[in-house]
Amino acid sequence: MDLKHLIFIFLLLSSIFAQRQYIPTPRHSHTAVMIGKKIYFKGGVNQGFDGLGFEDFFYLDLSIPIDTTQKQKIPFFSENNEGLTANSWSISGLGGINKDQIFIFGGFMKDNSSLVLQYDSPNKRWITPIINGSPLPIRRRETSGVVDDEGLMYIWSGTTDTFFGQPFDIINDMVILDTIGLSWQIKSTPFARYSSTAVLLPDGMILYIGGRSEDFGYVPMNQLPIYNTKSDTWFNITTSGIIPESRVGHTATLVPDGRIIVYGGIHMIGEAYLPPKEDLIVLNTSRPIYDWKVPQIQKMPASRSTDELHILDISNEAEYKWVTTMDKPVYHQNDQIQEYHNDFQTPTLTISSQEYKTATGPANWL
Ligand SMILES: *[C@@H]1O[C@H](CO)[C@@H](O)[C@H](O)[C@H]1NC(C)=O
Ligand SMILES: *[C@@H]1O[C@H](CO)[C@@H](O)[C@H](O)[C@H]1NC(C)=O
Ligand SMILES: *[C@@H]1O[C@H](CO)[C@@H](O)[C@H](O)[C@H]1NC(C)=O
Repeated sequence: MDLKHLIFIFLLLSSIFAQRQYIPTPRHSHTAVMIGKKIYFKGGVNQGFDGLGFEDFFYLDLSIPIDTTQKQKIPFFSENNEGLTANSWSISGLGGINKDQIFIFGGFMKDNSSLVLQYDSPNKRWITPIINGSPLPIRRRETSGVVDDEGLMYIWSGTTDTFFGQPFDIINDMVILDTIGLSWQIKSTPFARYSSTAVLLPDGMILYIGGRSEDFGYVPMNQLPIYNTKSDTWFNITTSGIIPESRVGHTATLVPDGRIIVYGGIHMIGEAYLPPKEDLIVLNTSRPIYDWKVPQIQKMPASRSTDELHILDISNEAEYKWVTTMDKPVYHQNDQIQEYHNDFQTPTLTISSQEYKTATGPANWL
């Protein structure tokens, strides 16, 4: 073998090994966004409720077969975090003209000089965008955000925190961040909520599931507010079917057939954080009256205090299954993290930690 061949083999091997696999620390209150076949994770905390959070940045590569029983081999890879500050309780969305820019908003940030951070994914670099418009939105946690087709990120309500130099308060507004024009506007809203989960429906409506209201009460799961992004109006819908236990910090994933898969979360009783009675609930939005169902499924296997990755197979509506492997790549180009594709398996990938479990949805905790 001549030198040229050896060099070629060396280059080939070094390109294969250049990207070292990464083993993330257990966490909750991180945020995640899916671009192509990669789910990018940012921030989060390991213990307790508060904290400045992690500054690592990594992704899960869904084009590689996953076997969750082989923890060392789960295809997590570390990514450039230069310019990313440690954060937790932030939310994120995919924006920009080509839907390839990650926008992180609010939450705890070690360097809190900017409310928003932007990851330019094609160029693999973090930037601090200059966003026009006044007043500046209030930094908040326990909010939720979705980005529509026009690149507008809708961030409703949430709470301030003494950590941000502000007394606790529930914020009554809708921040609309234009991820293309880099400007924002703030609208007042008829009521406020925190720790609910937003789902963007195909018709431009945003459905809010769960959370707590201004009187700190857990809102009933059969009364769901909807924000019409086109007309800037609100209405409430009443669901049919069972009424699942109220919850906060769950994830909600809209799949292309109109099911919203709601997973996890907590319901506090006294001082105790308890998982809601039903681990997994499904809202059918293909029906004129949205309908809740509790699928027949084993409860999440021994999970609430581990750092495992969990995969839910939703391909058979009659039989949801927790699985440990995912062989086939997910081929869908997503623009919203909650729009997981379900050609094969997948919708809810979770990494759990301590008493919370956090999924890749836009929710903060799970
Ligand atoms: C920014 O961080 C500093 C130092 O931790 C803190 O005193 C201040 O209240 C924070 N301000 C905001 C708006 O988060
Ligand atoms: C929707 O429900 C909220 C409370 O959850 C209430 O404050 C609001 O007035 C309701 N809106 C309409 C249009 O009924
Ligand atoms: C959702 O509703 C549609 C229309 O009624 C129905 O065809 C479909 O089977 C339902 N899906 C589930 C999971 O119940």
